[in-house]
Amino acid sequence: MLICDAAASLLKSAEKLYDSKEAERIVMIIFNDLFQIYQIKSKQEDSRLSPLVLNTIKQRIENHEPVQYITELAYFYKSSFFVNPHVLIPRPETEELVDYIIQNFDNNSNLKVLDIGTGSGCIAISIQLLKDKWKVMASDVSKEALEVARYNAEHNQVDIEFVCNDILDENAWNELPKKLDIIVSNPPYIPFEEKKHMSLNVLNWEPELALFAEPNSLLFYDKIADFAWLYLNQNGSLIFEINEFQAEATYSLIKEKGFSSVEILKDIFGKYRMLMAKK
Ligand SMILES: C[S@@+](CC[C@H](N)C(=O)[O-])C[C@H]1O[C@@H](n2cnc3c(N)ncnc32)[C@H](O)[C@@H]1O
Repeated sequence: MLICDAAASLLKSAEKLYDSKEAERIVMIIFNDLFQIYQIKSKQEDSRLSPLVLNTIKQRIENHEPVQYITELAYFYKSSFFVNPHVLIPRPETEELVDYIIQNFDNNSNLKVLDIGTGSGCIAISIQLLKDKWKVMASDVSKEALEVARYNAEHNQVDIEFVCNDILDENAWNELPKKLDIIVSNPPYIPFEEKKHMSLNVLNWEPELALFAEPNSLLFYDKIADFAWLYLNQNGSLIFEINEFQAEATYSLIKEKGFSSVEILKDIFGKYRMLMAKK
């Protein structure tokens, strides 16, 4: 099939589920990242694509599969990451969390950083890439996610220590690094009752373990704050991505734990998305 016809056919499939701008973006990503075809050419100078390959991709799109799982590639901050359905697809708002850390802490001090719930490793790896004097470590409860994170660290040529650990289990906290200067986390924070409002490309494809916090959406903030209180150095920083609808409650929780300089910041879309605090 000619490439321009293939693109038109893929666009039709994507438009069944997405608005026309998003559908166009998906088709561009498929052609760029999967087929390495950077220009959809005119009919005269067109080359060809196997209809079998094209039909498989169409089915995957129509099955609500996120384009990043189809291409196995996500771009985050200044790097690219392998992704599969064991890890959350890195989000733009999380790039702002990383940017905050990059802009506000000096590379020359040998800081020790732990990223809790690392998933694809996007936060830890992006930080380590730009702060080469720091020691960045990362944990996750999912062995499969850690496999992806390890692959991404290798692919991005950074040396990060990964630990398989359940942060909700206080008895396992001794497995994690201590005397930390920064603890950063984008933990699961969606309450189960929000499921009914979520789109199928998230619900059917991204890992439940990465999304939902039960019995309450502040569960992880509560536990991670307790862990941080024990294992952060004095004046160390606790940095969270937060649920925009739980900003006030998260702020109060962290204040009540005894942290100082608690601050909530908005993302570029004007949503309360980040919390910073000092021990
Ligand atoms: C919202 S995702 C964040 C992933 C990645 N840091 C990012 O920002 O794209 C939350 C991560 O927490 C992990 N997780 C869930 N429960 C956990 C637990 N009890 N202990 C440690 N990590 C957990 C999930 O496997 C998932 O990778």
